[in-house]
Amino acid sequence: MELVLLLGASGYVGQAFAVELKARGVNFLAISRRELDYTRFDVLLEFMRIKKPTFVINVAGYVGQPNVDACEGAKSDTLKGSALLAQTVAHACVAADVPWGYVSSGCIYSGAKVIEGGCERVEKDLAQPSLKALIAENPSIVSGFKETDQPNFSFHEPPCSFYSGSKALAESAIANLPRGYLWRLRIPFDEIDNPRNYLTKIQSYGRVYDNVNSLSHRGDFVCACLDLWSQEAPFGIYNVTNPGFVSTKQVVELIKRTIQPDKDFEFWENDEEFYRFGAKTPRSNCILDVTKLMSAGINIRPVEEALQDALGNWVT
Ligand SMILES: NC(=O)c1ccc[n+]([C@@H]2O[C@H](COP(=O)([O-])OP(=O)(O)OC[C@H]3O[C@@H](n4cnc5c(N)ncnc54)[C@H](OP(=O)(O)O)[C@@H]3O)[C@@H](O)[C@H]2O)c1
Repeated sequence: MELVLLLGASGYVGQAFAVELKARGVNFLAISRRELDYTRFDVLLEFMRIKKPTFVINVAGYVGQPNVDACEGAKSDTLKGSALLAQTVAHACVAADVPWGYVSSGCIYSGAKVIEGGCERVEKDLAQPSLKALIAENPSIVSGFKETDQPNFSFHEPPCSFYSGSKALAESAIANLPRGYLWRLRIPFDEIDNPRNYLTKIQSYGRVYDNVNSLSHRGDFVCACLDLWSQEAPFGIYNVTNPGFVSTKQVVELIKRTIQPDKDFEFWENDEEFYRFGAKTPRSNCILDVTKLMSAGINIRPVEEALQDALGNWVT
């Protein structure tokens, strides 16, 4: 009989997996560390040998609260909760011969690829004013990082935040293990007001940092991950974002047009000001290419449509 183990079901992303598994009528067990210390290899393996799951979803992990700056002061927890936990779970799945999925992150990249005069180059900082203007004028010159591109915001290619470096370590440690999906999530949002929702965060900032990013609608992300599994797509790494990219200014415009017509949003003047007063550690801002996901037959709506839908159905 089918049985999915969901590790980290109590978290922001894990809750969305639980909702969707339920909606699909999938038999699943939502596991919390309170009930079973799945961070221990022996405990998890023993549990899997008894329960005999047919798939394991690992959406557990340490994320800094309220943001990645918190990981700089909690390096041991960050490493344990990302690089180590990802390996523990993936190796236990291999030992129990169970296929698995791991929620990774797009934050291991910075920037995008820019094609000009027939030449492609990587631009790590899309906030440069001249580049921003170029992209706004002609968005088709920009393309995202593919799954085959090496992370460029990692301990191997600094600077990076400790959180991003740890997520990149997790990926490199488990990417070659058999029968696993690595689903890269990027800046989750949806229609439910929540301190973890990107659309809520933007409304709560004293000043907003303008940059360009790919984003993942939380429900769309979860559906795409489960579709990859249920449709038996090849195992491996997948960028799971809504196709396209947006600037923070564009998102603010959408928020003003829909749910916050009277709010005045202030922006940081430039990167220097943001990093001096608004952030401790470098932020990943990047565009991901979702060709592999779409080629696997997964339908996922464009980011503008997902944003309009979320704001049009905003629930507080
Ligand atoms: N939210 C984002 O912006 C984002 C973006 C990209 C990727 N991700 C990745 O998605 C996964 C889930 O993120 P999330 O935002 O849902 O996080 P979250 O709300 O903090 O939930 C994570 C869950 O993981 C479990 N957990 C296991 N070990 C932990 C540890 N050492 N510290 C804290 N929690 C631990 C906890 O569940 P129990 O204690 O109940 O077992 C917790 O509820 C993480 O791997 C994260 O890196 C998140």
